[in-house]
Amino acid sequence: MTEIPTTSAFTPERLAKVKEIIARYPEGRQKSALLPVLHLAQEQWGWLSSEVMDQVAELLSIEPIEVYEVATFYTMFHLQPVGKHVIEYCRTGPCCLMGAEGVYDHLQARLGIKTGQTTPDGLFTLKEVECLAACGWGPVFQIREKYYMNLTNEKVDSILDELSK
Ligand code: FES
Repeated sequence: MTEIPTTSAFTPERLAKVKEIIARYPEGRQKSALLPVLHLAQEQWGWLSSEVMDQVAELLSIEPIEVYEVATFYTMFHLQPVGKHVIEYCRTGPCCLMGAEGVYDHLQARLGIKTGQTTPDGLFTLKEVECLAACGWGPVFQIREKYYMNLTNEKVDSILDELSK
């Protein structure tokens, strides 16, 4: 499982990066830095607790609700603790036409979890997402910046075996 924020303080290095990003925007437009700052927060804690989002709001001099609105809109932000590998599985039409639903059933059965859950060993979290812009290579899932495409049940098994080592 990822780190659970307790003190909600950015590391000095990340705080310096946050300030550098904020400085790219004119006074009064700090909100424009919200997405990259949220990415930095998630990089540090693994997920975005309300305490962390409140801290981001304070750094950007905006209301906490403005941070919650953005963090809850984008599926790449995790609003609860996640496992080491977050599988973001495309459930949009073109992938479904390529057999995504059957492969997803297999993936859930293999992991023993459903959408939104984390395996008991803390290794995998499963999320459903909209189109990952790789429709021609569906079914597709993403783990961090890496795409896994043309998925079959066998391919899923071999990916999970590799990631479980
Ligand atoms: Fe799955 Fe576009 S529909 S990547």
